Amino acid sequence: MWEPIIEESEFQKNGILCCHIQGKKLLVVRDGTTLYSCGAICPHQGVSMENGLVFDEEITCIEHSWTFSLRTGELTYPGNGPRIPIYPIRVHNGMIEVEVPQAEIATNSTDEYSEY
Ligand code: FES
Repeated sequence: MWEPIIEESEFQKNGILCCHIQGKKLLVVRDGTTLYSCGAICPHQGVSMENGLVFDEEITCIEHSWTFSLRTGELTYPGNGPRIPIYPIRVHNGMIEVEVPQAEIATNSTDEYSEY
């Protein structure tokens, strides 16, 4: 089920938007014209990556620099390890939407937005 997150016109600059859907914390990331959505929690020590660094289709946790592909969720630095969840994302009727498993959806809210 697709969940509306924010009007695309309100999220035009590069940045990271932190959202909660049914208690699940996720990120919406804009890098140029490309949008990504991933789990917000770094699997290293459970830190939220809403202040992470985004570059070249990857997000880097600012705590210890673990880096994940925004396309696959794969850990690309420091090596093999846990992935982060990746969610389908689209713009539909001007709204950025993320598809999450239906069982996890009830309400959503947007609480933070940071540019990078
Ligand atoms: S908590 Fe994210 S890299 Fe350590």
